[in-house]
Amino acid sequence: MSCIYTVTLNPSLDYTVSVENFRLGYTNRTATELLTVGGKGINVSTVLQNLGLDSTALGFVAGFTGQEAARQLAERGIGNGLIFLDKGLTRINVKLQSVEGTEINGQGPDISGEKFALLEERLSELAAGDVLFLSGSIPASLPEDTYLRMMERLAAGVLTVVDVSGEGLVKTLPLHPFLVKPNHHELGEIFGVTLEQRASVLPYAEKLQEMGARNVLVSMAGQGAVLLAEDGSVFESPVPEGRLVNGVGAGDSMAAGFVAGWLEKRDYEHAFYMGVAAGSATAFSEGLASGEEIRELYRRVREASAD
Ligand SMILES: Nc1ncnc2c1ncn2[C@@H]1O[C@H](COP(=O)(O)OP(=O)(O)OP(=O)(O)O)[C@@H](O)[C@H]1O
Ligand SMILES: [Mg+2]
Repeated sequence: MSCIYTVTLNPSLDYTVSVENFRLGYTNRTATELLTVGGKGINVSTVLQNLGLDSTALGFVAGFTGQEAARQLAERGIGNGLIFLDKGLTRINVKLQSVEGTEINGQGPDISGEKFALLEERLSELAAGDVLFLSGSIPASLPEDTYLRMMERLAAGVLTVVDVSGEGLVKTLPLHPFLVKPNHHELGEIFGVTLEQRASVLPYAEKLQEMGARNVLVSMAGQGAVLLAEDGSVFESPVPEGRLVNGVGAGDSMAAGFVAGWLEKRDYEHAFYMGVAAGSATAFSEGLASGEEIRELYRRVREASAD
């Protein structure tokens, strides 16, 4: 049995509030409030858990907010591989629901070389067949090639999933990540082009593959997704019908769904549609999608793709 690990270098506690009639420059009061652990790797772990797959969350936390993050992980049934820093505070990200897309994100603690070495030690324990997700931006206290350095620690045969934008992604390609999942903006940015249609992404997915990626899954928000698989096969899909509720974490859900599907059947088509279903199921729900929501949407997506 393979073990799954996710990395979140800079987790957060997300303080999600709604305020009626929000007014800038005045004291506002919340109508609802929620404090939940966040971060892209932790989103992946949560969706995997919802699909019945155990994983361990790796990363760095600090202070009392870090303790709360670890407590909430345990509550979700996710393995705790977080390294505690001696100084600083896991960040609090304020998300103002009433004013569409408004957030104030904290910086998070500095990660010392000594603590980073502890993470590298953990990584060297992973074995062939294990899966490692590297998700999200690199905090300012670490170099841009941090994911590359982490991948250099891995034993042969560990499957890596890299979900980060720009140079952070490009630098990992020579080490042959199993899956990269740029969205169309991130893919376009790498090559200095604007990509709007599913039909136009394939040449750029091919370039990432030539540069070393094994499977390239390009997500396009409401436009669906395109997979260029390792064996050269190509799958594309529009999004299933549904009402957008909250697109945050759709990309993380898609990466989790793809890997869950791959581990189930070792079949790229199944993995692709599990990714599409998981991404859209999260877009159609308040938080991250449940396992039932994903499986139900998967059935619908497959029926549509058979037409
Ligand atoms: N508005 C939407 N309606 C239906 N499905 C969606 C929508 N937005 C996203 N999805 C599904 O989720 C997948 C991933 O979404 P998206 O391309 O927005 O990822 P992302 O930009 O990496 O998101 P994030 O990094 O915030 O998790 C899409 O390919 C699609 O299948
Ligand atoms: Mg993303």
